[in-house]
Amino acid sequence: MSQESTLPAPYIVVLGSLNMDLVLKVPHAPAAGETLLGRSIHHIPGGKGGNQAVACARQGARVSLIGCIGADADGEALRTALQDDGIDTDALRTDAGQPTGTALVMVEDSGQNRIVVIAGANASLQIDEATLGPQLASADFLVTQFETPMAEVVRGMALAQKAGCKVLLNPSPMQPFDAALWPLIDTLVVNEVEAGALAGRAVATASEAAEAGAALRRRGVARVIVTLGGAGAVAIDADGARHHPAPQVQVVDTTAAGDTFLGVVGVALASKSSLDDAVALGIRAAALCVTRPGAQPSIPTRDEVLRSPVAPTWTDL
Ligand code: RIB
Repeated sequence: MSQESTLPAPYIVVLGSLNMDLVLKVPHAPAAGETLLGRSIHHIPGGKGGNQAVACARQGARVSLIGCIGADADGEALRTALQDDGIDTDALRTDAGQPTGTALVMVEDSGQNRIVVIAGANASLQIDEATLGPQLASADFLVTQFETPMAEVVRGMALAQKAGCKVLLNPSPMQPFDAALWPLIDTLVVNEVEAGALAGRAVATASEAAEAGAALRRRGVARVIVTLGGAGAVAIDADGARHHPAPQVQVVDTTAAGDTFLGVVGVALASKSSLDDAVALGIRAAALCVTRPGAQPSIPTRDEVLRSPVAPTWTDL
């Protein structure tokens, strides 16, 4: 019997957003003043919090989602989608005064996307410390992002630290960063734009990602991962920096690739994988995700990831 199968499933609490994605397939993004004939429109479950929860659940973790939806059909569809993946939605609040969050996702023929989020009920999210505290006390990680009110994210992260639960943060979409957050983060996952904004320097190459990651570690974060899209990711920890290349794939839609990566890395770290093994697995999962359309339907299961081509080996920087 493998060691993995004898370990209990990791428990992850996700604090975050739920959106119904309105996905428009377009030949290219319209320029200012241009009217464009699109190809199709679909309603697909998304939102960074929901996507990350689904990514964790499909890796075999036990997952609880802390979020807020409106009292409408989109909210019920999102709740059902989460429950279909076995996610605990007991702490999912409903705000009858707000519509469920919506994201307008424009996907070009190249697979690149442009997203506008209308927060709706996500802006009403409020942590219930009496519920969240005990959950965090038994969780391996709190996974969160910046698509819900910053004050609640900070409260959740502080509560996690108090409960002895590690925090995996993806500060997206980027917002003014409260300095009080730094000591609360165990693992920070940023793309090149977010890394550049936080470190105050341009990040385009793996070497620049390594330098930015080292600068961010000096603020108190144990582990930093800078994702570089098709160029893979750079992992930075106390042992230095390593560049993990990505397999070349046919990109259909990049939506939720970052969320997939984050969830897979979180579950791998909670399962005691090394940072490099976790990043390598996350890259394989994200590479699968971008070959499929939509957010939550494109997130692979653990079996699919393990059957996918092994990513090229990493190099020290
Ligand atoms: O990360 C992708 C997600 O960002 C989409 O599903 C959309 O809802 C936005 O939150």
